[in-house]
Amino acid sequence: MGKYFSKEFKLYNHHEIYSRSYESKDDYNEEQHCSHITMRDIFKGNFSSDIRDILSYSNTKILDIGCGFGFWLMEMASEFPKPNYFGIDVLPVFPTSTIPHNVKFSQHDLLKGLPYEDNTFDFVHIQCLTFDIPELYWETNIYNEIARILKPGGWLEICDMEFGIFNCGPVTRRFDLAYLNNLRSRKINPHLILRSHSILKSIPSFSSSQVHHKRSKYPLGSYENNLGKLCAKIMRYRIHAIIKGLVAKEMNIKRYEIDSTIDKIMNEFETNKSYYYIHRVYVQKNF
Ligand SMILES: C[S@@+](CC[C@H](N)C(=O)[O-])C[C@H]1O[C@@H](n2cnc3c(N)ncnc32)[C@H](O)[C@@H]1O
Repeated sequence: MGKYFSKEFKLYNHHEIYSRSYESKDDYNEEQHCSHITMRDIFKGNFSSDIRDILSYSNTKILDIGCGFGFWLMEMASEFPKPNYFGIDVLPVFPTSTIPHNVKFSQHDLLKGLPYEDNTFDFVHIQCLTFDIPELYWETNIYNEIARILKPGGWLEICDMEFGIFNCGPVTRRFDLAYLNNLRSRKINPHLILRSHSILKSIPSFSSSQVHHKRSKYPLGSYENNLGKLCAKIMRYRIHAIIKGLVAKEMNIKRYEIDSTIDKIMNEFETNKSYYYIHRVYVQKNF
């Protein structure tokens, strides 16, 4: 069992505030489902690590950290039914019924360590979690803890966005800046994914392995056909929750102005062909 390394999680737990800022649980579910689909389609599959062979073995163990509603895990379990799948999330939003026998979800705070023995997992997957956790934890605890629970030769894969919208208009820029300040005030580095190569290389269990890295554009608007339309739809949900839950005051926006502000941002996306970058970083634990 890993060390208990956070007694102050409540200080940082904006995620609860954020998730409550969706109009309904259905909106939050829909946003996460579409987000999962776009990440998968942009990177042409649910993983990039060299794990295809082990997906046909029943003793393979796979962990998804910050699994949310469990879309990635359930899809993997349906496509590759042999392995055992584990999903953890600090909020109990994952499914509790009609779960395949080889999938297990549990509520757990990553900042308390990982409740698994050393050398347990063949593959650890993390998607869209870097904006939830202060940089220091990634540097000092989380990657070490993951290295501990991975089997020798097991893979870690991290998929996330890089902060900052390119080709943005004035309202989008105001939003981006307010959100950046909010993240910084909570000691979150929204560019963490760009540092993951050097952080991983500093961890003895990964130091002699190659850190692989893929980067792709995430288009925000119908100028990129259906994919762009879907990405923009997700951003609409997300920006709504961020403004309502986190930055309305800093942006000097009243509650009744939120929707019209978001309409302006969506128009700017279309007019300017806005986009941001998403990344996949993956590495194998030393044998
Ligand atoms: C943006 S969602 C991503 C969900 C999912 N990985 C996906 O890509 O669809 C981030 C998830 O991480 C969870 N999370 C945030 N902080 C966490 C922590 N300290 N321990 C475990 N899960 C956490 C949140 O509750 C949320 O479900």
